Formats: sequence, structure tokens, C-alpha cells
Amino acid sequence: MPLGSADEWLSLQTPALFRAALPFSFYSVRSRCRFLRTMTAPLSLGVLISGSGSNLQAIIDAIEREELTARIHVVISNRADAYGLTRAQQHGIPTVVIDHKEFSSREDFETALIQSLHAHQVELVVLAGFMRVLTPFFVRAFPQRIINIHPALLPAFPGTHAQRQALQYGVRIAGATVHFVDEEMDHGPIIAQAAVPVYPDDTEETLSARILAQEHRLYPHAIQLFAEGRMEIRGRTVVVHNESRAPHATLRVPDTTNGQKD
Ligand code: GRF
Repeated sequence: MPLGSADEWLSLQTPALFRAALPFSFYSVRSRCRFLRTMTAPLSLGVLISGSGSNLQAIIDAIEREELTARIHVVISNRADAYGLTRAQQHGIPTVVIDHKEFSSREDFETALIQSLHAHQVELVVLAGFMRVLTPFFVRAFPQRIINIHPALLPAFPGTHAQRQALQYGVRIAGATVHFVDEEMDHGPIIAQAAVPVYPDDTEETLSARILAQEHRLYPHAIQLFAEGRMEIRGRTVVVHNESRAPHATLRVPDTTNGQKD
């Protein structure tokens, strides 16, 4: 399939279009498709976690504040002791534990994940601190329908301990990235990024907390763009339709202007 084609864009939107019972002949009318997407049912999410679930909480809160037109159909954890499971249960969200250690192969584990996500009619798979590497087998089950948040400005510092990597490298600006998941780790097309300053006395903990606060704002916002059908993948680039712009905005670190305009 050619990159950036109407087919590719439509493959991203198709379930939304089905929900809207849109006649097939309308599929090539992009603006109309996007418009109709906003009138359909909430986007159904499956959130995969392994731990605290503070990003999950941010998504739950955004839905409850009606800033995110979505519904979490299931939260799946590979660890029974993940606190995120408690967070989900407190909000009446179904939870499932699928412990990777109980499977003899990655494919068997991922088959169980896929079956559960399908059983809960999940449209978009949201990785939120899920600490298992997903293989191409899983990724192909949800093409362009898996997103992840990573605590670095990708492509810098992929993999584990991204904040520690940033400190060790000595960068002055760090941040978070929401991206589509492809068959390489921390690599797929970038949806959204947020930047934060790094200070000389930062520790891994202080920098992680500063980045995490931005993650909690960024992730629900990125999911809402998907729910509204405003994203189009063109090769490695995600085009966000009707994106607001601030072409002169900067984050300068250190800021030698003392907050004054220069
Ligand atoms: C976040 O830093 C996220 O970027 C990374 O894992 C962490 C998950 O934190 N992928 P939480 O479980 O959402 O609190």
C-alpha cells in the first residue's frame, strides 16, 4: 500500500467509519469522514499496564472530565500486583491479568493479549507503562492501532531508563513522546511531544517527575486526536488536521533572559 495514500488514512479510520455506518462510496471524502468521526460513539480503548498506572489515571480523569471522547473497555496487566489495576477497579473498569510468566512463548502470551482485546472490542490499544516488548506478531494484529508513551524526546534515548540516559548524556531539554507502535522498539510515527527543562541538580527522580507531569497532559490529548479522526499517517509523519500553531514558541535552557522577551 503506498504511503500517504487515501487507503492508508482510511485504514486508520475504518472502525470509526463502520460505527457511523458510512456508505463505502463516501470513503474517499476525507473531510466528510473526519467530520462524521466526531459524531460517533466514544473510542473504545484497551490499556496495557505493568505498574503504577498514573498515565492510566490521567486517561480515566480526562474521560470523566469529558475532555476525552473515549471509553476504557479493559485494562490488562501482565503483573497481578500492578497498582493500576486498583485504579481501574475504583472506576468500575474491567481488569484482566495476563501473566507472561505463565506462557511458554511470547507468541502464546501475545495471543492471549490479542484474544482479550478482541473480546472487549478494543479499537485502540494504549500502552501505558507496559513493560513487555511486543513482537511483530502482536503489532500486526492491530495495524496503526497501538500507541505508546515514552519518557524521552524520541528518537533520543529509546529503551529503558530514558531519563537516566538523558541525564548521563547531559541534554538540557528532555520530554515525552506519544507515538504509533511499529515493529521496532520506540520507533513508530510520532504523534505528539512535550519538552521540559533539565537542570544541573536534577536526579533521575526529579526529572522523571517533571516529565511524568507532562505525560499526563500529553497522552489524553493525543488519544483525543485519534478519537476525532484528525490524524493522518504519511510515511513517518503524523499530520494532525486543524492543528493550532505557535511558530515562535521556544524553550531555551538555560534561559538567560530571566523571563524577559529578547
Ligand atoms: C511512564 O514514564 C511512561 O512514559 C513509561 O512508563 C511510565 C509509566 O508510568 N512508558 P505509569 O505506570 O503510567 O505511572
